[in-house]
Amino acid sequence: MATDRLVVIIERLRAGEDPANLKEAAQELLTSIPREELSFAGQKLVEAGLAPEDLKHLCSLHMGMHDDETGRIKAGLAPGHVIHTLVSEHEMILHFLDELEKLNQAAQKMAGYSTNKDEVKKVMHIAEHLIGAEPHHQREEEVLFPEVEKRGVSGPPQVMRMEHEDLRRRKHELMEISETSDKLDFNTFRKRLDATARFIVLTLRDHIFKENNILYPMALQVIQDRDSWDKMKSECDKIGYCCFTPEV
Ligand SMILES: [Fe+2]
Ligand SMILES: [Fe+2]
Repeated sequence: MATDRLVVIIERLRAGEDPANLKEAAQELLTSIPREELSFAGQKLVEAGLAPEDLKHLCSLHMGMHDDETGRIKAGLAPGHVIHTLVSEHEMILHFLDELEKLNQAAQKMAGYSTNKDEVKKVMHIAEHLIGAEPHHQREEEVLFPEVEKRGVSGPPQVMRMEHEDLRRRKHELMEISETSDKLDFNTFRKRLDATARFIVLTLRDHIFKENNILYPMALQVIQDRDSWDKMKSECDKIGYCCFTPEV
């Protein structure tokens, strides 16, 4: 049934129909199929002409239908496994995002900088940790995604790469706001902090949710042999880990 609907949408896209007209039908289809089929369907739609940006939106809708699977994934894997480490790092990153959200909310209520600019130092500290998550994203982009793509899953990794790019820019912006706060009056600092912090908190939480609930379970499903995971682990070791990666 889902396959028939997929074929109809793809045929209409191939016949030259404006992808914008078919977004709704694609959305309806992707939110009504099992997660295991999501990647395949999404990939086929992108190949037929739907923008990956639209898939990003569709993935977000789809994820709302699933409970967070983090605990289940970790329980099924040994500490040190590539995915176990990535999920553990996500937990740390989510903690930094909670901190950033609280700091931003507090800054929005303040009348001006405190005398020793404590809040600015805390924002800088969080920006350092978020930028320090780069080896996490590199392990995904250089080790995990290519292995998943080799096995025919290309839609979700493509979306995740785009989000990494957006987030890299915004994390550096957060650092720049805190580093240049000496030159900014408090009102400008507060406004810029609000826009950047909100973007990072929302986008990165959403990104992590999609990886935990869609991409990582898919990777575990399509990469079955132990050898591949062992090889991936040594490639990950070469890239390295984050200052906050929990010790195994
Ligand atoms: Fe990622
Ligand atoms: Fe990640």
